[in-house]
Amino acid sequence: MMNSELNCSNSFVSLAATENGVAHSPSFPPMSVATGINRVVDNRETQSVGVMTAVRTKTTEVAEQPNSAPDEQGLDVRQAHIYLLDDEMANVVLLQRMLQSAGYTNLSSSTDSQQGMRECIENPPDLLMLDLMMPHLNGYAVMETLRAAWGTDNAIPILVLTADASREACRRALSLGASDFVNKPIDMMEMRLRTRNLLNSRLLDQQLRAANAQLEARVVERTRDLERINLDLQEAQTEALEKLAQAAEFRDDDTGDHIRRVGNCAELLALKLGLPSHHASLIGRAAPLHDIGKIAIPDSILLKPGKLTDEEFDIMKTHALMGAALLSHSRSPLMQHAEVIARTHHERWNGSGYPAHLEGEDIPIEGRIAAVIDVFDALTHERPYKAAWPVKDALAEIKKCADSHFDPRVVEAFCELNHADLI
Ligand SMILES: [Fe+2]
Repeated sequence: MMNSELNCSNSFVSLAATENGVAHSPSFPPMSVATGINRVVDNRETQSVGVMTAVRTKTTEVAEQPNSAPDEQGLDVRQAHIYLLDDEMANVVLLQRMLQSAGYTNLSSSTDSQQGMRECIENPPDLLMLDLMMPHLNGYAVMETLRAAWGTDNAIPILVLTADASREACRRALSLGASDFVNKPIDMMEMRLRTRNLLNSRLLDQQLRAANAQLEARVVERTRDLERINLDLQEAQTEALEKLAQAAEFRDDDTGDHIRRVGNCAELLALKLGLPSHHASLIGRAAPLHDIGKIAIPDSILLKPGKLTDEEFDIMKTHALMGAALLSHSRSPLMQHAEVIARTHHERWNGSGYPAHLEGEDIPIEGRIAAVIDVFDALTHERPYKAAWPVKDALAEIKKCADSHFDPRVVEAFCELNHADLI
């Protein structure tokens, strides 16, 4: 390329490099002549200079491609949408030709700042080339409105074209969102380089945003998968533990109703006491295992219809420690809760319970909850050695035992439950 200079009537363009060594005339020569470009131009709306104009130009084939090849990142800036907004039609046309000769194919323009601004809001370009001095709505006002409309995360570059190279103008434009400047008269080579750099940044930014969005979508999808798997595992674990509890209860409760009721009621009572829902859920799922240690108690004692002898009762009492031992050394919070409940559901508030004679709040809350629920359920349902008690009698018994057998606060919360739901 040869260096030469072209000055238009309005001093808009100084052409530092002509295309194919052919100097442009001061008017607007056909690019096919000046550059040897074989192109098809579709001017959808073109009005004469001096009339408010909107122009959209598509160039389908460009012979001269100094900046047209995809760059090293594989980006093809030729496809980028460039919007030209300048009230001087002559400037717009010259810029279009310059961009077309550089291989850019997706150009829109307007000489009406209000119309241009509207179009840039409706269809944001990849680069806006913006004149500052325009009638009605100047470039500063356009930038301010567009930056607000595009939002802070929309990094569309704005290349300001200005004859005012003052520091004040520069600061004002930068504060309103200008990305770069080209001073008039315009040096075409500088213009091309700045255009390419801004578009490269823009397309890289878009690629990054797209990659981030894709990554976020994959993370959300993966998280959903994991949550689903976790839920399945949780259900499988709960079911396995229910079966285990049922196996222990099978000999004296072949329906498994007791353990299910104990679990449901324990969760309701935990919630009534104000425990967090996650904790209440753990208690509800762990409570059915409270008597798992009965698996080690002989039938002759477990199924004995009459009163147990002291010796038999001592053996029966071992089910608490047996169950805890069975459930011990687990890293699962559910199993850890089950171990606590198995160990402490026969402790009593006044220290007269077993196996450790714990007293008051030394008894874990899980054990205090299970104690009330277990006794209420036993009283209100038939056993080989007793008939089912009416709910009101069972409630009276529970209340009577507050402060001795049971934690009075737990009893108080229990009395507030809907007992019809507990049977
Ligand atoms: Fe028990």
